[in-house]
Amino acid sequence: MARKPLMSGNWKMNLNHYEAIQLVQKLSYALSKDDVEAVDISIHPPFTDLRSVQTVLESENIPISLGAQNCHAEEKGAFTGEISPLMLEKLYVTYVICGHSERRQMFGETNAEVNAKVKAIFKANMIPIMACGETLEQREAGQMEAHIVEQVTEGLAGVKADQVASMVIAYEPIWAIGTGVTATAEDAQEVCALVRATIGELYDSSTAESVRIQYGGSVKPSSAPELMSQPDIDGALIGGASLSAEDFAGCIQYRLAQ
Ligand code: 13P
Repeated sequence: MARKPLMSGNWKMNLNHYEAIQLVQKLSYALSKDDVEAVDISIHPPFTDLRSVQTVLESENIPISLGAQNCHAEEKGAFTGEISPLMLEKLYVTYVICGHSERRQMFGETNAEVNAKVKAIFKANMIPIMACGETLEQREAGQMEAHIVEQVTEGLAGVKADQVASMVIAYEPIWAIGTGVTATAEDAQEVCALVRATIGELYDSSTAESVRIQYGGSVKPSSAPELMSQPDIDGALIGGASLSAEDFAGCIQYRLAQ
C-alpha cells in the first residue's frame, strides 16, 4: 500500500509570529503545485504563532497542514502554562508532535505521559506524530533496539489499531538532532523497519503497512533524497532546515533529485 510522504517542519522555540508569517509566505512561493500534490506538508510553529499562521494558511489557501509541537493530555484544568488539545483543534491544528526527545530529556516526559498525550490528541480529532530515538550511549551499548521497542510499545499502549494505522511515528536518533550528523540512510532505514516490525507484532501487518514513519535528525536538502528512497521511511521531521524556506522546500522537493 502506498503511503503518502509527510514532510514536517518542527520550528522548536524559534520565530515570533511576525517572522512566522514571513516564513510561511516565502515557503508557499517556493513550493510548486506538484510538490504539494506529491507529499503532505506540516509546519509546527511555537504556540504563540499558531493563530497567525493558521490565518495566513487559510486566507491564502496554502495547502500546508498546521501542526503543534506538544500539548497537555488533559482537556482543561489547573495546569499553569499548559495547552489543551481542544485549544489546538479549535485552531485547525492537524498534527501534534508528542514525545520529542527534547521534551523527554529536558522536561522529563515519560513513555506513560507520551501515551496519555497520544490518546488525548486522537480524542481531539488530531493526528499524533510520536517521536522515539536512542542516545549515542544506548546505541554504543547495544541497547538501541530494546529502547526503541520499549518507547513504541509503551507509547502506544491501549491505542487502537485503526488509530495507529492513521498516525505518524518519528524516529529521531538523539545523536543526530541539531548536530549536523545525519544517520546514514541504511541506519535510519534499519530502525524505521524495526519500528514497523514492532507495530506488526503489537497489532497486525496491515496496521504496520499503513503507519507513516518519519526520520528526523539533521535532514537537509542534500540528505533528503537518499533517506526518502528507503522503503520504510515515509517522511522527515525537520528542525534547523525548516527555518529556511529555501532549505525546507529543498527537502520537500527530494524527489526531483531521485
Ligand atoms: P534538526 O533537523 O535540527 O536536527 O532537528 C531534528 C528534530 O529534532 C526535529 O524534530
